[in-house]
Amino acid sequence: MSPAAPTSAPVDCLGLLTAYQHSAILAAAVRTGVADAIAHGPRHVEEIAAERGLHAPSVRKLLGAMVALGLAVREGDGHRLADGAAELASDHPGTLATIVEKEWFFYKAWLGLEDAVRDGHARIAPWRERLARDPGQSERFLGALDDLAARFGGGLPALAGLERGGRLLDVGGGAGSHAANLVAAVPGLEATVLDLPAVERVARVRHPELPFVAGDLELPRFGRPDGESWDVVLLANILHDHPPGVCRRLVREAAGLLAPGGTLLLYEWVLDEDRDGPPDVVLFAVMMLVENEGGAAYTAGELSGWLEEVGLQGVEVRSGAGPIAVVRGRAR
Ligand SMILES: C[S@@+](CC[C@H](N)C(=O)[O-])C[C@H]1O[C@@H](n2cnc3c(N)ncnc32)[C@H](O)[C@@H]1O
Repeated sequence: MSPAAPTSAPVDCLGLLTAYQHSAILAAAVRTGVADAIAHGPRHVEEIAAERGLHAPSVRKLLGAMVALGLAVREGDGHRLADGAAELASDHPGTLATIVEKEWFFYKAWLGLEDAVRDGHARIAPWRERLARDPGQSERFLGALDDLAARFGGGLPALAGLERGGRLLDVGGGAGSHAANLVAAVPGLEATVLDLPAVERVARVRHPELPFVAGDLELPRFGRPDGESWDVVLLANILHDHPPGVCRRLVREAAGLLAPGGTLLLYEWVLDEDRDGPPDVVLFAVMMLVENEGGAAYTAGELSGWLEEVGLQGVEVRSGAGPIAVVRGRAR
């Protein structure tokens, strides 16, 4: 159950209404190169504008807003990136630049939220179409997921609780981020990433150590040959892209790939049973509404029910501090 909010607590409605300005300022700072220009010391407005091909008076306004948000500081008669915002620079080892690209893409899509609430349809083209039409944007999206996994995916191995090595298939593995985290943590585990053929390029760049096989969620056995089996099958951040009927089929196909005693792992955003929390997950559920036709966040009851439905044993939900939990079950 989500904790009940006191009904009398004041809500900063105007603050929520204008919060879009913060996101837009941060994205503009990164996308125009202003954040990079001031990353290594104070620079003058005219210098930044000339270097980046920008309109100097507007850069000055942007810098003022960056100071107001704590993203930049004034030093002498120039500005530099605030120490606490160093990750906005594209040469920072933990740069947010690719994640900013991803969020900027969704920022624009969220303009269609009102219409999505009216008609229930996503505002973004289906993934296969996006991959074909704009491979660069799609690769940046998968790169951003890999950067997010590097920041937040470290809890997966402990939640997965794999007791021994073996062969793991990361279905819809994208860049291979979560498979790579598991391989690093579990001695003797070997992982293969399965995804659409166009994803191979980004997987090769991000996790060249992992073998990649082309496959398709829409095919029986995801395109894997009859007779092949895996000790672990991972569906990480896959089910939320699909409506419940498709999730059931995906879980059935995944379970069908398991060797006797093998483990199916879901790594998913998990909604409270009353669907009013946790906060990160209910916002994510709205993202799915905008992004994926039929996409949704699911409750622990729904996710574990789908594993039980296909006969998996010992089904359990293992959650940590974050919004993404593991649901796992074992084949007989
Ligand atoms: C939300 S991403 C998750 C990626 C990765 N598992 C993670 O957790 O970061 C969804 C993944 O499903 C893949 N995918 C989408 N449709 C697919 C299909 N028909 N067959 C195989 N993979 C597909 C995408 O290419 C993408 O890598």
